[in-house]
Amino acid sequence: MDFTLMQYIESATAIRASLGSFAPEILLILGSGLSWLGDTVEDPVKVHFADIPHFRRPTAPGHPGRLIFGTLQGRRVAVMQGRLHRYEGYDFAEIAFPVRVLRLLGAEKLIVTNAAGAVNLDFQAGDLMLITDHIKLIGDSPLRGPDLPEFGPRFPDATHLYDPDLCQAARDVAAELEIPLREGVYMYMPGPQYETPAEIRAIRSLGADAVGMSTVPEVITAAHCGMRVLGFTLLSNMAAGILDQPLSEQEVLDAGEACREKFSRLVLRCLERM
Ligand code: HPA
Repeated sequence: MDFTLMQYIESATAIRASLGSFAPEILLILGSGLSWLGDTVEDPVKVHFADIPHFRRPTAPGHPGRLIFGTLQGRRVAVMQGRLHRYEGYDFAEIAFPVRVLRLLGAEKLIVTNAAGAVNLDFQAGDLMLITDHIKLIGDSPLRGPDLPEFGPRFPDATHLYDPDLCQAARDVAAELEIPLREGVYMYMPGPQYETPAEIRAIRSLGADAVGMSTVPEVITAAHCGMRVLGFTLLSNMAAGILDQPLSEQEVLDAGEACREKFSRLVLRCLERM
């Protein structure tokens, strides 16, 4: 799907009509485990994806998709509740569309979280990981298609997609809160099937520490248009073939629930410091 600049502007204009003079500084795209943080936003203004032109909608039942604008930890935020995935049938440009719209509305930073499988054998289910880099081997890119120089260069540098200063701030916060924080490389896999054990061995030999089905399109898009990105992964399970047991969505959801407290403390304190 190729979007025009005008389509991004139309979406931003529609949202701005609900916001008055409020301009978000930080966009939070939170995996299902943390999306409840959206409900803790103060003075919230809620805008449903269905009411925004060109926005696609999450297909998971019970996840209508909405943006919540307001204040969290004293920062002006937009929280995206309900993200889009490629396995739902969307391409990367559709998944990342809201990021550019939020950039037009003023957001300068992105915090992104997800759940993923642990590929690194030193990691354990329930650990938190700072994302320092990623690997995407599939051909799609959110920047594919007609050049829109208003957002950024045609061939953007990708050396520091995950902002080194924000990464250091996250390490400092984790140490202060005494929350153990792993760090490593997130590998994007399109799903929806989990990986095979052979794929996981290949992914490990490629240099990845975690594997998941989200985040990468949004991060590429955000960094391209000048946003500083901070990303965290909840390692919800050991990746396929490591333990002698099948993977299940329930395991992923249960891990999110079990880590909710430490994960939210870490993310909220980082937000406060950004
Ligand atoms: N693989 C891919 N995506 C995931 C996993 C996994 O093991 N766990 C949570 N999301």
